[in-house]
Amino acid sequence: PAPVDYQAEDCAILQGVVESNWAGYTGTGFVNGDNVVGSGIDCTVTGPATTLTIRYANGTTTDRPMTVIVDGVAGATISLAGTGAWTTWVSASTPISLSAGSHTVRLTSTTANGGPNLDRISI
Ligand code: GCU
Ligand code: CA
Ligand code: CA
Repeated sequence: PAPVDYQAEDCAILQGVVESNWAGYTGTGFVNGDNVVGSGIDCTVTGPATTLTIRYANGTTTDRPMTVIVDGVAGATISLAGTGAWTTWVSASTPISLSAGSHTVRLTSTTANGGPNLDRISI
């Protein structure tokens, strides 16, 4: 099936806030996770799907990796490198294996810098 967008600001937020002060987001804003390990989002999504795409901005020059946790099981950690500016949003994709039906996809930061600002995921 065609990918479906899930706005980060509509997901459950793990240690962070919804903001809209950097242009270029879609929906009504983006999630600014706290700059700690473990901040991020937890989204309820519908499978089947084989690709997870994350639209984000990272205005630093330091990678802000996040781990993908599907239905409570930790999977890949995705590199989310600097994008040059907080207003520059890019997409990063990784394989995901979702059967038909409802699932939770959680993204959590793995370093004390937190994750990047998260606009949306597509599945
Ligand atoms: C700045 C920026 C935030 C970002 C934060 C960070 O404060 O305005 O949008 O989340 O840096 O470093 O994570
Ligand atoms: Ca932040
Ligand atoms: Ca958004």
